[in-house]
Amino acid sequence: MNKFTNVSDIGDLRQAVAEALEIKRNRFAHTELGRNRTLLMIFFNSSLRTRLSTQKAAMNLGMNVMVLDVNQGAWKLETERGVVMDGDKAEHLLEAIPVMGSYCDIIGVRSFASLKDKAEDYSEKVLEQFIRYSGRPVFSMEAATGHPLQSFADLITIEEHKRTERPKVVLTWAPHPKALPQAVPNSFVEWMVAAGYDVTVTHPKGYELDERFTRGAKIDYDQNHALEGADFVYAKNWSAFADLDYGRILSTDRSWTIDSAKMKLTNDAFFMHCLPVRRNMIVTDEVIESPSSLVIPEAANREISAQTVIKRMLEAL
Ligand code: CP
Repeated sequence: MNKFTNVSDIGDLRQAVAEALEIKRNRFAHTELGRNRTLLMIFFNSSLRTRLSTQKAAMNLGMNVMVLDVNQGAWKLETERGVVMDGDKAEHLLEAIPVMGSYCDIIGVRSFASLKDKAEDYSEKVLEQFIRYSGRPVFSMEAATGHPLQSFADLITIEEHKRTERPKVVLTWAPHPKALPQAVPNSFVEWMVAAGYDVTVTHPKGYELDERFTRGAKIDYDQNHALEGADFVYAKNWSAFADLDYGRILSTDRSWTIDSAKMKLTNDAFFMHCLPVRRNMIVTDEVIESPSSLVIPEAANREISAQTVIKRMLEAL
């Protein structure tokens, strides 16, 4: 594998999950694979889980790891070609990327959506430039439109906890005080549909996601109805995707917060969220602290999803 940006890059999902679970049983079985190999992790945005889990995954494989926070200590980067660089940006991404590639074997990139320019966000401009100009295998550590390492970890977690072969998985929008990208919900639906689950997405009107990601999922504007019979409830906020409202907050309706009454509508469902989560906006204290909450094992599986992806990239070098 020399690229990991969406579900199609991982190939057969059953095989991928089986490989991930094997890695989880013995995460130090391949410490020779990454010897004298270097992972460079580049962050244009903040992170807790992705940073730590991906670094740990690479160390489990025997790799050296370098981390660059672009906004802390590096030169300010220009991303537009043709710009007269007479402002505060001292270096162009088109030089910076091949230079970074020259110091490592594999690159992970985190670069969020601006939520200002939909066309630019959905072109995945920064991630695509790394793929094109670094000369190295590149994986997404959450980009403008997707978060595949998170969705892979979510899939592993569901496979570990499911009680039926084809569980009902519900992605529900929930309120948040800040405008958030669609990356996590996009990827989550894409991966859950690809896994063959019974997938429902529920949100207030106006929060429709890109149909390229939701194809194969049911859309239900009635959250209570959607939650009926759910085996897994995945809560997440996102901002509007539609052209005229792109990146806007259209609702902060707290009646969409996942609480115990809503969980009672489900088939004794597990609660999931990618974290970080705003308690009592997205989910109540009671639900996230309940035995049904999978948020911690889900975050722990980020190490496993990252290790599976990096292992496959190392094997292909
Ligand atoms: N879920 C997730 O990607 O967390 P971080 O933003 O902390 O990396």
